[in-house]
Amino acid sequence: MKRPLTPDPSVRAAIEILEPLMLQRTSDLPVLPALALEALALSRRANVRMDQLLDVIEREPLLAARVLGVANSAFYSRGMPTTSVQYALVRLGTHAVRDVLTMAVYSSTVFDVPGLSELVRECFDHSVVVARASRELARSLDLDPEVAFLAGLLHDVGYARCLKIARTALAQVERGPMLEAVDALHAAAGGVLARAWSLPAEVVLACERHHTPDVRDYAALVGFVEVSLEPGRSEHLEGQRDAASAALGLDADGAAKADAIVAAAPR
Ligand SMILES: [Fe+2]
Ligand SMILES: [Fe+2]
Repeated sequence: MKRPLTPDPSVRAAIEILEPLMLQRTSDLPVLPALALEALALSRRANVRMDQLLDVIEREPLLAARVLGVANSAFYSRGMPTTSVQYALVRLGTHAVRDVLTMAVYSSTVFDVPGLSELVRECFDHSVVVARASRELARSLDLDPEVAFLAGLLHDVGYARCLKIARTALAQVERGPMLEAVDALHAAAGGVLARAWSLPAEVVLACERHHTPDVRDYAALVGFVEVSLEPGRSEHLEGQRDAASAALGLDADGAAKADAIVAAAPR
């Protein structure tokens, strides 16, 4: 989930074991269920209707539970809990429902790595924050906010896959080098996964190139946003910021304005 460091010998050895497994072993890729693909497709449509959303949500009890949970949260409920999915949808509005739907599908289908679930949780929380801020920044840069949201949400999707494979393939390797190897390979692994799922080309690139952006695309947007969200920046993250700013065509002033938009985005 981080930008890869220049690896020391133990990390390099771990990468050598992990890399071919990650890039070649595609037969065990986690399957994105039809329902998840449907939700992702719906989330990209500008004029999605409530009845279409209701149709997807009602077929999956876990999604329905999640939507009700968010609608009944302090932020949305105003002290009036509901048990009706339909009413919950009206209360949330299409925008919030699409977010909940996409996140619920993503978190329940991809992230299952026994023993390392706290890292997976952290990665997912990071992705949600990056997704929201990417959507805000996209508006001011004339990029599509909904593609930006999806790119942000899925950019580190390779991380969980890397962890899952590393857990068994690198069982003999210490945790530190194992996690560095995962950091080094997660972007390439994310590209493999996003292609296998036939996700939009912009999202595939965001997975693959967010730490090494070089053109004005959603990889550069997400790469900028995630560094902007880091409070204390290492030299190493500054490199990613410089590359992303240049790719987005932002000078120092433009980058400072972009930072302010990212800082003001909902968490
Ligand atoms: Fe990230
Ligand atoms: Fe990453």
